[in-house]
Order: sequence, then C-alpha cells, then structure tokens
Amino acid sequence: MSDTVIISVKGISKTFGGLKALIDVSFDVFQGEIYGIIGPNGSGKTTLVNCITGFIRPDKGHVRFRDEEITQWPVHKIAGVGVTRTFQLMRPYYSLPAFKNLIIPLWSPRAKKYGGWRGGGRHGDRDTVAIDILEEIGFERESRVPYKLAGTLPTGYQKRLELARCIALRPDVIFCDEVFSGLSMSEIAGMIPLIERLKMDGVTLVMIEHRLRELFRVADRIMALNFGEKIAEGYYKDVIEDKRVKEAYLGSEEV
Ligand SMILES: Nc1ncnc2c1ncn2[C@@H]1O[C@H](COP(=O)(O)OP(=O)(O)O)[C@@H](O)[C@H]1O
Ligand SMILES: [Mg+2]
Repeated sequence: MSDTVIISVKGISKTFGGLKALIDVSFDVFQGEIYGIIGPNGSGKTTLVNCITGFIRPDKGHVRFRDEEITQWPVHKIAGVGVTRTFQLMRPYYSLPAFKNLIIPLWSPRAKKYGGWRGGGRHGDRDTVAIDILEEIGFERESRVPYKLAGTLPTGYQKRLELARCIALRPDVIFCDEVFSGLSMSEIAGMIPLIERLKMDGVTLVMIEHRLRELFRVADRIMALNFGEKIAEGYYKDVIEDKRVKEAYLGSEEV
C-alpha cells in the first residue's frame, strides 16, 4: 500500500425525498490498498458507490481520482479513466453467453488502449481475450460454463462475471458492492484469492460488505457507515471495537 491517495471523497451528501441517505461523508483511499466499507442494510453503502461512480449525482461534495475532480462526470467517462464498479444486484446481459458479456467493456476505448487482459489481447481476437479473463476469474476454460447464457449461471458465477466485466476495462480502481453476498462459505473462499491477486496486480479495491468476517480477511482499512454517516475508520480491530460500530450492529450476529 502506498501513501498516494487515488480516490478522495469530500463531504458527499445525498437526500432522497426526506431521507438523508448520505450525510457529509469523507474518506481517502490509498493506491493499491483494499479499503472496506461496512454498515447495516440501508446505511448508504450502495448510494455512496453510486455517487462516486457517476450512477447518481450527489447533492453536495467532491470526488477526486488522482489529480482530477470527477464529481458529476457521466459513468462512461469515469469508467474511461479506470474507475469501475460491480453491482450488488447483478446485471449481466442475461440472454448473452457469459463470455460475450465481456465484449462490450473490451470494445471500450480504455480496453483497446491497454490492449486487453495483461497486454495479451492487443492484436488478438476479443472472444479469446474474454475467455482468458473468465479463466482468470475461475470459469473452467474447457467446460461449457463460459458459453452458457449469463442468466442461467449460478450466483457464484454471476458474481465472478460482475468482477470479470470490471477487469475487462483494465481498471485502476474497482468498487465491489457486496461481491460475497449470496455466496456459500466455499464460494467466498474461492473468491478471496481472486481479490488478493487483483491487489497484487496493482488494482485498488474498495469492498463494500455487509458480511464482516470475510471482509476482515482481506481489507487493509475499514470505514463504517450508519444511517448515512461515517461513524468509524481505521484498522479492522479498532473499527470492530468501536462503540458506535458495535451499537450499529447490535442484535446482529455479524460481529
Ligand atoms: N433511488 C432511491 N430512491 C429512494 N431511496 C433510496 C434510493 N436508493 C437508496 N435509497 C434509500 O437510501 C438508503 C440507503 O440505501 P443503500 O445505499 O442502498 O444502503 P445499503 O447499500 O447500505 O444497504 C435506504 O434507506 C434506501 O431505501
Ligand atoms: Mg447496498
């Protein structure tokens, strides 16, 4: 983990009607770290990701990526500089084969510029690059799984496909919105090495999780949200010991 700030969020607020979904949230993410965001259901985690990645507009506040202010940029422009996200509610192209789901990000100017997965596909066939990426993320290359319609895949594979679509863009930062949710313990155990490998490849990861134990295995630092407010930040031991975090999760078996 470096001391270079790659994502800086300052004073983000978002109201839906009368509901304050985010209240003055600020945090910095260092290049190459795994930054965890926790919080009970409805605490504003997905709204925060939506505000940062351009899917909704914050009412107030600023987001910087490296030296650029990206607040209020459209999604494609934010993705174009290498900031991407997975969806908590998975959004594959259900009626396309799994590997064809990667063709759209692989056609993006950014993927073209950086030549596909680890430089392997600059002159290669995009279908092959798509299969390469799926193999990297745990689809058995020789099986029929990469060719099955995305909508027919089990949750574990759909979660991986979400990550694969991000990876196809050759991102610098991935916001993972609950990539472990809906997975069995063994599926999570299979995902963790993928997350660790992305980190080793230099990708900065912001992992939003409702399930704490799994996140604590991989995250360098954690921030906790409750009712739209940041209530704690730091190393996981300090965060789980925090009185306000304990109260927020009181009655839940998560902590
Ligand atoms: N588009 C929306 N319109 C109205 N309310 C919303 C919308 N998106 C989220 N909310 C509300 O904002 C709060 C935070 O939601 P969300 O960010 O999804 O929480 P989390 O991801 O932490 O579970 C919730 O009360 C939710 O109902
Ligand atoms: Mg959410």
